Amino acid sequence: MKKFIGLVGTNSDQSTNRQLLQYMSQHFAGEAEIEVTEIKQLPMFNKPLGQALPEVVAELAEKIEASDGVIIAAPEYDHAITASLMNALSWLSFGIFPFVDKPVMLVGASYGTLGTSRAQAHLRQILDAPELQARIMPSSEFLLAHSLQAFDENNNLTNPDVAKTLNGLFADFLTFVDISQQLNHAHEAHKKEAENFSWENI
Ligand SMILES: Cc1cc2nc3c(=O)[nH]c(=O)nc-3n(C[C@H](O)[C@H](O)[C@H](O)COP(=O)(O)O)c2cc1C
Repeated sequence: MKKFIGLVGTNSDQSTNRQLLQYMSQHFAGEAEIEVTEIKQLPMFNKPLGQALPEVVAELAEKIEASDGVIIAAPEYDHAITASLMNALSWLSFGIFPFVDKPVMLVGASYGTLGTSRAQAHLRQILDAPELQARIMPSSEFLLAHSLQAFDENNNLTNPDVAKTLNGLFADFLTFVDISQQLNHAHEAHKKEAENFSWENI
């Protein structure tokens, strides 16, 4: 069975994006293991001398490295991703490269109607950076609008059409991960490129 990391894209204790990942973890338990994983334990990124990584960052990177893929649930703040998610991605591209060629599915929940469409576009751009180079599932986004009203008391999605869309996208993601595992001929070269990349030389 495939093992995924469900990355909660916020440090907020109350989060409908966390709720969405918890729903996915339960709902898709027969198809894959989704470990809902926090970023709120990470310190503020500060470019430490000698590239020394905090233990919590190394632990998170190892989990991502060992996984078959990552599902990121990203709230939208001011048309962008949250500062805490940006912080996590800075750590996860600082001398370590766990996202290189890693299959990634993007989902997001927002209080209003737009369902994080701008944040997801923003996140795609960030995950394409030379030290991240994630393999983001193309032509797909799962946008959960009005997220405060989206779940019932058992944490199930109340709208069957929305649940059906997510079922379809998750099935696509499972296929995308299988295909990605075959597209590995340049993986070592990509890792080396990321390791050797320097912002001073461009
Ligand atoms: C500082 C701030 C900025 C926000 N900006 C947006 C925004 O640009 N677009 C949007 O749809 N919702 C915006 N919201 C509302 C969020 O959708 C909502 O507060 C929440 O973060 C949803 O995710 P969560 O339940 O996981 O925290 C903003 C909220 C905050 C606190």
